[in-house]
Amino acid sequence: MKKYIILTGLAFALASCGTKKTTAVAATPVAAPVEEKAPAVDLTPELAEGKNLYENSCARCHKLYEPQDFSKEDWAPILVRMQKKAKLDDVKMASITKYIHSQL
Ligand code: HEC
Repeated sequence: MKKYIILTGLAFALASCGTKKTTAVAATPVAAPVEEKAPAVDLTPELAEGKNLYENSCARCHKLYEPQDFSKEDWAPILVRMQKKAKLDDVKMASITKYIHSQL
């Protein structure tokens, strides 16, 4: 009788382990790639480059501003001022500007 109880307990333990594992394995690969891919799909490689430049050049002195924090008209004089501060050439600045405009 004792043996039977122990075996039943073991079977339960194994069964619940099995269930947990299956859920974990199934959930991980489904959730991860969807989250990572979502923003990349929206941006063309050109815009992704601008975003990269923006994040790396424009957060050295202050927090990174959201493109939506300002209107296109407000951004124009700010970007002229910040280009000088960040010492960026016109090509890089055009790329950053395109990225900002794409987010407005
Ligand atoms: C060398 C430091 C420095 C770098 C690099 C820099 N900024 Fe700034 N930024 C400042 C300072 C200082 C201010 C606040 C004074 C001012 O507005 O000139 C500021 C203010 C801002 C503001 C707020 C402007 C306002 O009118 O409220 C924005 C937006 C901004 N920066 C965007 C950028 C962007 C975009 C870049 C990259 C191209 C950048 N910054 C790079 C120093 C910097």
